[in-house]
Amino acid sequence: MSKISNICCIGAGYVGGPTMAVIALKCPDIKVTVVDINQDRINAWNEDNLDNLPVYEPGLNDVIKKARGRNLFFSTNVDKAIDEAEIIFIAVNTPTKTYGEGKGQAADLKYVELCARQIAKVAKSDKIVVEKSTLPVRTAEAVQTILETSSNSVHFEVLSNPEFLAEGTAIQDLFKSDRVLIGGEQTQKGKEAIEKLVAIYANWISKEKIYTTNIWSSELSKLVANAFLAQRISSINSISALCEATEANVNEVATAIGMDSRIGSKFLKSSVGFGGSCFQKDILNLVYIAKSLGLDEVSEYWLQVIKINNYQKERFAKKIMKSLYGTVSGKKITLLGWAFKKDTNDTRESAAIYIADLLIENGADIFVYDPKVNKHQMLSDLDYLNSRSSAENKNSLTYCDEPYIACQDSHAIAVITEWDEFKSFDWERIYQSMMKPEKVFDGRNILDVKSLEKIGFEVYSIGK
Ligand code: UDX
Ligand code: UDX
Repeated sequence: MSKISNICCIGAGYVGGPTMAVIALKCPDIKVTVVDINQDRINAWNEDNLDNLPVYEPGLNDVIKKARGRNLFFSTNVDKAIDEAEIIFIAVNTPTKTYGEGKGQAADLKYVELCARQIAKVAKSDKIVVEKSTLPVRTAEAVQTILETSSNSVHFEVLSNPEFLAEGTAIQDLFKSDRVLIGGEQTQKGKEAIEKLVAIYANWISKEKIYTTNIWSSELSKLVANAFLAQRISSINSISALCEATEANVNEVATAIGMDSRIGSKFLKSSVGFGGSCFQKDILNLVYIAKSLGLDEVSEYWLQVIKINNYQKERFAKKIMKSLYGTVSGKKITLLGWAFKKDTNDTRESAAIYIADLLIENGADIFVYDPKVNKHQMLSDLDYLNSRSSAENKNSLTYCDEPYIACQDSHAIAVITEWDEFKSFDWERIYQSMMKPEKVFDGRNILDVKSLEKIGFEVYSIGK
């Protein structure tokens, strides 16, 4: 079997960028080209100053420093990269449809389809096409059909190789994956293609961790993995509401149940609600697929995970309003954190957006501090919800690059992201500068409640 020497990836985002950087690092003999239609993004990946990369991930700078220019390249020349590569990864975005059939639930596959058409048009030799983006089950079939019917005498083998990295720990997740999943056709050619991809990962992942399946199992497993993870969070978040209404403490309940090895301790941290580009989108996808297949009970079951997540975000915002005597109109409320989790600058589906939106709707003046998210991103996230005009959003949200100013004269502080630095703030100083009575809403259970209460804060933690 000939060895692969040239691969490319279409989509230089949170998935394509870090994944290809690690493949390039671990496989110095393979030329890896990451292409994107977005010139600004590619320029940012090629920046000399590594602090300006488009994706913030701990450890990414080191990987880029070692591989970029050696065997890792970023470019907008999509055709050239497709032409030269033996394996083409598709890592473009697959947002939830905002129009037409399946609106609000189904994945919009227009970018994936465009990629397939472009590959078919450009390819002059046989290619292995790898789905990296999370896709609805049986997308590979559609991709295969487009490739086969739009090209001449070139053979395409489509594989599914879903990404399981979590943002904020992407590099470590890629270095030490729990598993690498590769699905392909169970034909001779399909099996050969699977082996070629296995050989790439085997440069740093032990063979026992590389699991090969048929293509549909691989596609579905990605959706199901995310659905199970998110389901655990919604489960514990539903219990957090019960804890707040009783004397139980959700952290203690989570620890107690997590000690059962059958349950396990991970993904049981109650929070203001899960965010990120995948959980909601993938569950909605699962819901849509089940419904389309007439499996209404299955569809309803998974939809409940989303409903609890929405409930949790709303519950948190309403709690702030209730504690401020039923009105936030004209009051300054400070959000600490805008990213959907710590150690990332990604804000997609972050609880912060929905909480800010609800509070603004009720007349609040929102001030936000986040160590990695800029003002432009915050405002465009709010605009995307389309609840009010851009001008109104601009009037209602103030970006602060200094946390103490963000908190000064504030009626309430809400911790939305679990950034480590929030724990070591000078809370005494913040307390002195706030409106009375001083309130802090800990949406992540990260603060030392006892010492805050000792200073005088009224602390409202999720599930306590
Ligand atoms: C994306 C999907 O959202 C996710 O479902 C999947 O699992 C992996 O790919 P992510 O990398 O986080 O995740 O998306 P994003 O950061 O938006 O990057 C996608 C990139 O593809 C963008 O830079 C976009 O410009 C590029 N793109 C999109 C193309 O190059 N060509 C296209 O036709 C469409
Ligand atoms: C997730 C999956 O973990 C990953 O395998 C997949 O490839 C993409 O989707 P990601 O969204 O990057 O990764 O981050 P993750 O760590 O899973 O967190 C998702 C959301 O859940 C965050 O908002 C996080 O704060 C929240 N969360 C996570 C909780 O609220 N409680 C927990 O116990 C764990």
